[in-house]
Amino acid sequence: MLARTLILKTAALGPVEKLVRKSFLFRPLVRRFIAGDTVQDGLVVADELIKQGFRISLDYLGENTTTVEESRAAVDAYMTMLGEIAESNCTRPVERRAIYASQGSEKPVETCNVSIKLTQCGLDQGDGFAEKNFRELLDLAKSLDNFVRIDMEGSDYTERTIKILENVFPSFPNTGTVLQSYLHRTPNDIQKMIDLQMRTRIVKGAYLEPEKVAIQDKKLVDRAYVEAAQRLMLEGNFPAIATHDAKIVDELNAFVAEKRIDKSRFEYQMLFGIRRDLQQRLNNEGYNVRVYLPLGDSWYPYFTRRLAERPANAFFILKSLFHR
Ligand code: FDA
Repeated sequence: MLARTLILKTAALGPVEKLVRKSFLFRPLVRRFIAGDTVQDGLVVADELIKQGFRISLDYLGENTTTVEESRAAVDAYMTMLGEIAESNCTRPVERRAIYASQGSEKPVETCNVSIKLTQCGLDQGDGFAEKNFRELLDLAKSLDNFVRIDMEGSDYTERTIKILENVFPSFPNTGTVLQSYLHRTPNDIQKMIDLQMRTRIVKGAYLEPEKVAIQDKKLVDRAYVEAAQRLMLEGNFPAIATHDAKIVDELNAFVAEKRIDKSRFEYQMLFGIRRDLQQRLNNEGYNVRVYLPLGDSWYPYFTRRLAERPANAFFILKSLFHR
């Protein structure tokens, strides 16, 4: 926890950001986690992964737009991306069955969807403004038979994010949310998503949160994660089990076998470049696996969160700073 805090705080310093962004030294490490600068770069990588049997969620990186114009530009970029996905090879069905419930009927799950943050849609400029932009995006996605997942950000945004999702969901069942097992409030939110039958991705949580709102002990976060995932697997609508934790994955696979939950009723999700061995193993064993594929040039905050999860990655950067 201490290393994670230190890394996130150091990475937020202006000169460190400038150095990591500019120096070609860090490019290979950045490329390990980011598919490329453009949607076309992302689609090339996505196509390769789909050939191997994976599904994809594309994330055009960016967060906290500070003006109305920036939010519009971010939403427009997503609209363009949805169009480019529709015209690409990446909508072809993956052989392995994956089914979700949508307004009383069952639908095959899309091969390549998108994930976005509500702050990209303009949440800092007002809830109504963000919701309007989000609805526009969902409208286009619906016409293209695609799905838009809202990533979950820091806890200041949780309540507002869930409220907006509840508002739009009756008209747009092609959206879903993310819940973080480290938050004390999450067991209640899980119940809400089960009642709504909204597709939910469960993650441990990637932001620095105070004791008041989040569990601090990693073992307890892991326990809460397993409990949340099991509830979603039993009662949720095509939950996304998003973790690289092999111990948890094994525990959940045993649970699925014991409860006779069909593999077509949920998916594992993992980030591009992390635990590829585990991604491949699950794929080989017949589980649905979706790779979360980030792209675009605003990669820095995403990149630093990945470093903070694995201090060994950050030590590589520190070492090179001292040996310049
Ligand atoms: P944990 O951190 O315990 O790691 C388990 C193992 O995975 C490690 O021992 C290591 O082997 C490997 N590993 C994990 N991170 C690594 C890294 N960066 N580099 C190398 N190896 C690594 N969070 C959030 O707050 N809001 C969100 O919307 C999302 N969305 C999201 C989507 C998807 C598809 C995933 C997989 C994750 C997220 N997250 C997220 C991030 C999530 O909250 C969490 O921070 C990371 O997934 C790391 O937690 P793990 O569950 O992997 O376990």
